[in-house]
Amino acid sequence: MSQTLTQRSLQAVWNPCTQMQRAAHVPPLAMVRGEGPWLFDETGRRYFDTSSSWWVNLFGHADAGINAALKDQLDRLPHVMLAGCTHPPAIELAERLSGLTGQVLGHCFFGSDGASAVEIALKMSVHYWRNSGRMDKSEFVCLRQSYHGETLGALAVTDVALFRDAYDPLLMRAHQVMSPDARQTQPGETSADVARRAVADLRALFEARANHIAALILEPLVQAATGMAFYDPIYLREARALCDAYAVLLIADEIAVGYGRTGTFFAFEQATLAEQSPIWPDLLCLSKGISGGYLPLSVVLCRDAIYTAFLDDDVARGFLHSHSYSGNALACRAALAVLDRFRDHAVLQSNQQQAPTLTEALAPLRDDPRLAHVRHIGMIWAFDVHETFAGSRFAERFHLAGRARELLIRPIGRTVYLMPPYVLNASLSSWLAAQVHATLDDVLQQANPGAHRPSEPAIA
Ligand SMILES: Cc1ncc(COP(=O)(O)O)c(C=O)c1O
Repeated sequence: MSQTLTQRSLQAVWNPCTQMQRAAHVPPLAMVRGEGPWLFDETGRRYFDTSSSWWVNLFGHADAGINAALKDQLDRLPHVMLAGCTHPPAIELAERLSGLTGQVLGHCFFGSDGASAVEIALKMSVHYWRNSGRMDKSEFVCLRQSYHGETLGALAVTDVALFRDAYDPLLMRAHQVMSPDARQTQPGETSADVARRAVADLRALFEARANHIAALILEPLVQAATGMAFYDPIYLREARALCDAYAVLLIADEIAVGYGRTGTFFAFEQATLAEQSPIWPDLLCLSKGISGGYLPLSVVLCRDAIYTAFLDDDVARGFLHSHSYSGNALACRAALAVLDRFRDHAVLQSNQQQAPTLTEALAPLRDDPRLAHVRHIGMIWAFDVHETFAGSRFAERFHLAGRARELLIRPIGRTVYLMPPYVLNASLSSWLAAQVHATLDDVLQQANPGAHRPSEPAIA
């Protein structure tokens, strides 16, 4: 008998973020087709892509508009190197992204994956200070519970022991400051109070060390990969002010939270108070949703003052970083189709109209004593399962139970979350909520609160 795709995969493919010894128990689903929010495996079974395939897919799989744009670009120019050449999709994408920041972030440097954007932002920050005569500013600050990717530079500003420990001797040392995670509220405190405590921690570090610090990197509003930690926008405002006061660059990593995930196109927009002029980071990283979940692409947008600091007769003062596929024309063209969709279909407004249905359908979770911190922002819904009810290998058991209920869902540790494509409607939302409730009951009924064993560490 011929082997299934899953069997062949297990013999040849080494999956990311996976302990392959468990793969026999949790075999990879061999997906052969996608349509809207649905993925279809080799047996024809369907699954709702609750995490938009690691938060990249914005408008569903095999979207007609993006498909058409790609087919057109395919016959024109699939790829050309971006050193010494340029091309219409890269130019238009850079212009339009910069336009979305009101031209404050005037230049766009292209990368491929999210982690490569983070590497670019980190290197650019240090090199900026070097070109400005500040050779002493070469350190970075990140938040506890941060996740910025897994290449060595990005990992050095990531706070996930499971991902870091094996490589610790290879990693540069970054400062870690308190996370503003709103789940840390003490009785009588608000999320803004937690954010202010975190700001005080950042201020103390800057007072002691700012002369050596090149940049602060953070994920605006939601620390996603370490468990959907939401925080108050006041932290962004105050961090911006501190970075100005202490001459530290601010890198906003919007790889997960950009493109409408938190309700605004850029999450950082929520830092600006009504009636006040917009505040922006100095560098802004985008990837994931940028190409609608089609092709790897990332960008770092930066202020013109950063760009001009690299202009010189001396080649070595230029930013020489490169990737072969930087600014790939097909990926940029997909990204333009994504921006067209935002512009022509009022995506942010439509999400705002659709989200309450899912929020309401999930509302009973708030009264479930097995759960904590049932939360929602924009197009992200999350809750935590109390350790006593989760049992061992909670994420894996939930994932498997989800499969049986047509959900492709991967909790992060004991945090269950939904980050669906922007295609919700009333019937999909009620179906989705019902499946989540049912999966939760399937899994927690198996758990024996008496026989508590620690659940597995967070893994996205
Ligand atoms: C905030 C953030 N930054 C960076 C990355 C890394 O992106 P990539 O997986 O494309 O390298 C991720 C991935 O989850 C992320 O959430």
